[in-house]
Amino acid sequence: MKTMVIVAHPNLNKSAWNHALLSELKQQPNIHIRDLYQEYPNWSINVEREHQLLIEFDRIVFQFPFYWYSCPPLLKKWFDDVLTFGWAFGPGGENLRGKEFMIATTTGGSENEYRAGGRNWFTISEYLRPIQSTITRCNGTFLPAFVSYSPSAEALKDEAKRYAEFIQFSQTKLAQ
Ligand SMILES: Cc1cc2nc3c(=O)[nH]c(=O)nc-3n(C[C@H](O)[C@H](O)[C@H](O)COP(=O)(O)O)c2cc1C
Repeated sequence: MKTMVIVAHPNLNKSAWNHALLSELKQQPNIHIRDLYQEYPNWSINVEREHQLLIEFDRIVFQFPFYWYSCPPLLKKWFDDVLTFGWAFGPGGENLRGKEFMIATTTGGSENEYRAGGRNWFTISEYLRPIQSTITRCNGTFLPAFVSYSPSAEALKDEAKRYAEFIQFSQTKLAQ
């Protein structure tokens, strides 16, 4: 299983949580990590290259801090630019069939706040529906998300270990 992690953090240098998650991941074999904001500082995404990479990998993880109940804008642009008609969906758009996709996100809000009646009203799964629909529309398999809810500084190391295991050992059947 070849796994690619696409990190979309506008300010990774100042990040605590995503940085910690990545530190653990970098010690794992067979995981290709990319930093979208570093690769595309002018936001001009190389679509052909992204297509080649998507073909090369079996599992693609989108890692980002949860911003305004969604993903940071460069990742949204990545979806818009890369998931093209005739390549990712529509006639001839079969290139992502059989590939697994996963979201890994960190939130400022606690898990308790993400529920009906809670401070953030809805669950993370509900907020992630547009991305889930995008992936499903493109024939990809959408795996359960890894969510790190507002971890304390002491919990970061354990969260990072949980993350590394989660993205490597999650099974498709969990999504059904
Ligand atoms: C612009 C912006 C929007 C944010 N929106 C949310 C949000 O909608 N829900 C939430 O739980 N946290 C929100 N946060 C908090 C971030 O998710 C949190 O700071 C981040 O996950 C921490 O990760 P990092 O240390 O890697 O930056 C927001 C932060 C910023 C800067």
